[in-house]
Amino acid sequence: MRQENLKNNRDILLETRNLSVEFPMKKKSFFEKQKMLSAVSDVSIQIRKGETFGLVGESGCGKSTFANATLGFVKPRSGEIYFNGQPLYAEKKTVQEARLHMQKIFQDPASSLNPRFTVREAVCEPMRIRGGFDKNEVERKAREMITAVGLTGKDLDRYTSQFSGGQQQRIAIARALILNPEYIVCDEPVSALDVSVHAQILNLLMEMQEKTQTTYLFISHNLAAVKKLCSRLAIMYLGKVVEYGDAAKIFANPVHPYTKALLSAVLTVNPNEETKRIVLKGDVTSPINPPSGCRFCSRCYQAQEDCADRKCVLTEVEPEHFVACPVVTGLKADIEQ
Ligand SMILES: Nc1ncnc2c1ncn2[C@@H]1O[C@H](COP(=O)(O)OP(=O)(O)O)[C@@H](O)[C@H]1O
Ligand SMILES: [Mg+2]
Repeated sequence: MRQENLKNNRDILLETRNLSVEFPMKKKSFFEKQKMLSAVSDVSIQIRKGETFGLVGESGCGKSTFANATLGFVKPRSGEIYFNGQPLYAEKKTVQEARLHMQKIFQDPASSLNPRFTVREAVCEPMRIRGGFDKNEVERKAREMITAVGLTGKDLDRYTSQFSGGQQQRIAIARALILNPEYIVCDEPVSALDVSVHAQILNLLMEMQEKTQTTYLFISHNLAAVKKLCSRLAIMYLGKVVEYGDAAKIFANPVHPYTKALLSAVLTVNPNEETKRIVLKGDVTSPINPPSGCRFCSRCYQAQEDCADRKCVLTEVEPEHFVACPVVTGLKADIEQ
């Protein structure tokens, strides 16, 4: 049993335990009590080496904040993050060291690339910052990466602003991968691009992963893309993970009422297939002073009276498939008794 655990731990690149991130709200007056916005609350997930892990949820649910915490950019209020088994925030040194193995691909490539940089300068920037590479090595690597992402050696001398959005994202991908990082956050990598290039960029990300075995945290609200790319995923609602585990199992058998609603909104390609769309009522609850129990209950079509106060922890509903819903968890506890 112990050996089994050890083996599993070696397969995990990144783990969060009860991770919470809060932001202080702007005070209206000096005497007002400091209010906190709960952006990420009690998130415990594991990302395995070499996989594409999906993070799904509507805007403002805490996806980027979670990702930024795992990259060492946002200090958690509580909980832990382990990168390759090492606690990320233990010391300044551990964050700095871990960051050498991490990269991020942003939603909008135009704002993530300096328009005054040539492609060469943009792609080689991580090597320049790291230091210790000779000129020939930098040039060789730049050519290798730029051709790997579908551009040419000649493009290295042009300015990044001279390229289309899709091409700029290719440049950003080359830059992110040039130092062969172990972990890359792809934060909505195609949502700012023309629909016509979505598939190309997603295919490129998959191709590059096959070559490099890099682990991706793939953030998206495009469920079709998540289904195609991700082996495992977490669905977030207002800072909390509501469903988590094997992607194929979650898509085949969504259990949380929120996941069911999300999936029901995706149009099926087959017109004969009946889709019963679940339309959620009401507004998203405020992340300031959210309920102690289920945060989704005010919009939930299966909610019971006390859901706002009931314990809401991820519970296994089948192997590799976890759900945090007081109604589902309660039923499961009844069955197990
Ligand atoms: N630097 C910040 N200061 C204050 N509030 C923030 C900050 N960053 C994010 N938030 C808030 O945290 C919540 C989660 O935001 P975010 O992680 O950007 O969500 P997502 O990426 O899912 O759209 C939102 O309510 C947002 O307004
Ligand atoms: Mg975001």
